[in-house]
Parts: sequence; structure tokens; C-alpha cells
Amino acid sequence: MVYKIAVIPGDGTGPEQIREGMKVLTAVAELEGFKFEAVTYDFGGERYLRTGETLPDTALAELRQFDAIYLGAIGHPDVKPGILEKGILLRLRFELDQYINLRPVKLYEGVETPLKDKGPADIDFVVVRENTEGLYCGAGGFLKRGTQDEVAIQTSINTYKGVERCIRYAFEYCRRRNKKKKVTLCGKTNVLTYAFDLWERVFHQVGAEFPDIQRDYAHVDATCMWMVKNPDWFDVIVTDNMFGDIITDLGAIIQGGMGIAAGGNINPEGVSMFEPIGGSAPKYAGQNVINPLAAICAGAMMLEELGERKAAARIEQAVQTVCAKHLKSLAAGRMGYSTSEVGDLVVRYL
Ligand code: IPM
Ligand code: MN
Repeated sequence: MVYKIAVIPGDGTGPEQIREGMKVLTAVAELEGFKFEAVTYDFGGERYLRTGETLPDTALAELRQFDAIYLGAIGHPDVKPGILEKGILLRLRFELDQYINLRPVKLYEGVETPLKDKGPADIDFVVVRENTEGLYCGAGGFLKRGTQDEVAIQTSINTYKGVERCIRYAFEYCRRRNKKKKVTLCGKTNVLTYAFDLWERVFHQVGAEFPDIQRDYAHVDATCMWMVKNPDWFDVIVTDNMFGDIITDLGAIIQGGMGIAAGGNINPEGVSMFEPIGGSAPKYAGQNVINPLAAICAGAMMLEELGERKAAARIEQAVQTVCAKHLKSLAAGRMGYSTSEVGDLVVRYL
């Protein structure tokens, strides 16, 4: 089997992370008897500053031909915030209709969590974040911009179809995951009485098709509290785009930080994209100090989605061993190893 993957190393420490990720992916492919045909694209801040281009339409058409996309990080200190994020990352998610943002929150043995008295047995859940709607649609506008009567409107768009497919994915994922068999809807039904009315109705309608799975609800503010106080309460959390963005940063920190947090932008019927969820961390760029585990774990998620379960599990196991036996910390510059040495360690334990 040969998998065609598009690689977008991106900005800052992205290229270093992706370099290690590809090292691990290539090694595991050899062990498991498959291959990658990788094509690299230079989208990101440097290209934008050089050409004014974020993501050309022709490139987008090309990207649709791949089996998956492997992304480093997007974000450049010399580019106004929003241009690259909207022009590249969000555009890819929307145009490729990657309607699920799958973000596992799992604490590995030997990794420090800021949560007092919590360990790997307590922190193991997955956030299913809706990835193409909500406040991210860019709907809205200004009234009387620049005056003291100004009104800025940002509309959250929630369609039945969009909500339904996201919630269905969450229940199906929960069944496949086969752990606590519980899906928690994270919303704000007490204030966002239109959006989460729809979410709640669809949640119970779809959930009724999954009698083996328990349904639960928590407001987003309470979800944050529970994630800190009783993370073991969760199995699969399903939520909208904005809430999912926020709670997965909290999730990342309780699983040990951005050094290990990975995510997948998934279109189960199309081209999915896998990325470390941290930013481009420009201050660490080019120093060989960034933790590549998040990119390596994103690579494992990509393999899982491509159907290479055994290879994905081998990477996950190797990452766990490296965390348990070697790394002093997951933070950039404090791992006790360089970026490339961490990649080498993972390869060694495959
Ligand atoms: C993420 C990021 C993006 C988001 C930004 C960079 C647009 O924070 O992937 O979580 O808000 O989705
Ligand atoms: Mn985010």
C-alpha cells in the first residue's frame, strides 16, 4: 500500500516537528510494510510575505487528491493575526469539509499534569469538536464602525445537517472506542437558547439510536470545572466549534501541554488533516528544542484514519515509553533531549 500525503510544515517550529513526525512515520511504514508518497507544500507566513498568497485555488484542488494532509503549524510574528489562520488553516478545514476536529486528551505515564492528585487513570477522554460551523463561519458585520454607536455582530451558525453529522460521529466514535460508553454534550442551553436548543434536540434524537451509550449534558463553564476537578467523568465530549476550541486548550494542558497535544481535522468521506494543536512557537524555531511528540501523535492519528491501526498503536506505545522512561519534561528546551533526539527515541521503541 502506498499512501499519498501532502505535507505542510508551515511556520516557526512546524518544520522541525514535521521532520520528526515524518521520521517516525517512515520508520513505522517500513516495519509494517507500507509506504508514503509525500509532497511538501510551502504554505505559511514566509510564502505569504514573499508572494501575498495564502492558499491558492490550484493548490486546494491538488490537495483534494491526497489520502491525507500532515500539517505543522501556521502563524508568523510578522503577519497580522487572522490572515494565515483564516487563509490557510480555517480555509482548509472549511473547503475540505473536515467537519470533525478530533482531540484526544490522554495523560501518559510519567507525564506531569498540573492537576493535583490526578494520574493516567483519571485523564483519558476525547473531544469531538464541530469544525465547520458556529462562530467560525465569519458571519456578521459592523454597524456604524469607528463611531461610539458601533455594534459588532458575530453570528453563530448551526445547521441541522452540520450538528447531526457531528453528533452522530461522536456516538459512533464512542462505540468504537468502547471505554466508558458515555457521550457528554457540552453547551450553554441556559443562554444560547437557539443554538443549543438545536444541539440538545439532535443529541437526544441521534443518541436514541445508540442505546448502549449513556447521554450526559454539561454547560461549557461547568465542563471546564469538571475537566479540572473530575476529568474521569468524561469519555467523549461533543461540542460546537468555539467551545471545542476553548476546552481543548484546557484539555491539552491537563494531558501535559502543547508538547503532546494532537488533533485531527476529519472528513470521514474525504481528505482529513492532522496537526499538533499548539501554535508555531516562533521563539523556539530552528533551535532543535521543540517537543515533536504532538506532531508524532498527530501522525499516529493519521495512520489510524488511513486504516493502519497496528502502525498507529506502535507509535502510541513508543511515545508512551519515551515519556515514561526518558523525558524530564514535555516543555520545549526542558525535555533533557533535543527535538531530533526525541524523534530518534520514538523510532527506537517502535
Ligand atoms: C486551533 C486554533 C485555531 C482555531 C486558530 C489558529 C484559528 O486555535 O486549532 O484550535 O481557533 O481553531
Ligand atoms: Mn485553539
